[in-house]
Amino acid sequence: MAEIEIRNIGKFFGPVEVLKDVSMTIADGEFVVMLGESGCGKTTTLRAIAGLESVTSGKILIDGEEVQDKKASERDIAFVFQSFSLYPHMTVYENIAFPLRAVRMNASDRQAAVKEVAEILRIEPLLNRKPSALSGGDMQRVAIGRALVRRPKALLMDEPIGALDATLREQMRAEIKRLHISRGSTSVYVTHDQIEAMSLADRIVIMNDGILQQIGAPEEVYLRPANLFVAQFVGSPVMNVTDVALEGGDGGASVMIGGDKQGFHFPGQVVGHLNGAPLSLGIRPEAVLLSHDAAHGAIEVETTNVEPLGSHDIVDVRVGETVLRSRTEAGFVSGEGQKVWVGLDPLQAHFFDRDSGQALRGAN
Ligand SMILES: Nc1ncnc2c1ncn2[C@@H]1O[C@H](COP(=O)(O)OP(=O)(O)OP(=O)(O)O)[C@@H](O)[C@H]1O
Ligand SMILES: [Mg+2]
Repeated sequence: MAEIEIRNIGKFFGPVEVLKDVSMTIADGEFVVMLGESGCGKTTTLRAIAGLESVTSGKILIDGEEVQDKKASERDIAFVFQSFSLYPHMTVYENIAFPLRAVRMNASDRQAAVKEVAEILRIEPLLNRKPSALSGGDMQRVAIGRALVRRPKALLMDEPIGALDATLREQMRAEIKRLHISRGSTSVYVTHDQIEAMSLADRIVIMNDGILQQIGAPEEVYLRPANLFVAQFVGSPVMNVTDVALEGGDGGASVMIGGDKQGFHFPGQVVGHLNGAPLSLGIRPEAVLLSHDAAHGAIEVETTNVEPLGSHDIVDVRVGETVLRSRTEAGFVSGEGQKVWVGLDPLQAHFFDRDSGQALRGAN
């Protein structure tokens, strides 16, 4: 196990800059998940840590030692790829034992090591099979077993279960978590899937276009997004983001959306730190509160769309020129064109500098 530090790494592929000054420290035993859109640089970062790709600038340290110029084989880091990369002519046992043969471990130690990972991954009954006789989930279990068997300093996984169907992914997600808890390996895990990221990660790293946007615990990136990108990338349905104008004094302000003059009252503790720069308001659908009566601070609006989702509905309402999405109890409104009152929960509101996209935080 080891601490991994990435210090200001940059990477060009020819003229194209794909990693821009990326820095992070992954603690010993931590499970970090990298999340971001296709092409944002997740795989490149992982490959750079493993030594499968060089970096153009910056440093990579494992337990404080610079390794950016070392070969992959000298870094002692295991990598699990998305595609099943088992040796087809070997049995499961031989596949898992392969890295141990490569380091000339003796036969009895080898057997004990394979047995241990097979137990953790619950694949003991499969040890004599060939990969062609395995399901997709089992193949990926074996690939993870092969990566773990020699007790690497860290385990890097690049969408290891991305190719599996949804049910199997859910099951494997739980197993990977259990595996991490029992082995405690420093792990970096790449995924497109937010739910996977939220459920597995000690901390999530959000990347966009080669730039690290935020690193934090799952609830932190959800509740305190650092900028508009993170705010709209994390959470489903996406956070409502709209330009707003503020009017008021110390006691609070009226927050006007979509050119509507009525405004929502926000207390001073929430808006006191805002200094007159052009603002965007971010508010998640669960903080857009609908009622049938004139609740305090609410304004009367009309529904424009209802999306029934079983456990709840997503209801769109129009405020001035802006449509806000609300997560509302199932059946609360009957359809579009209905009059309702809408309020916003000021304590769940996020303000962003409209130009830079950076979150503007006060005392909260
Ligand atoms: N060997 C290469 N040569 C040239 N460009 C590359 C190479 N590998 C990656 N790229 C480019 O670098 C950028 C980052 O790629 P990377 O594979 O790291 O993205 P990713 O976040 O893993 O995406 P995905 O989610 O699709 O796997 C992309 O624009 C990609 O086209
Ligand atoms: Mg990738």
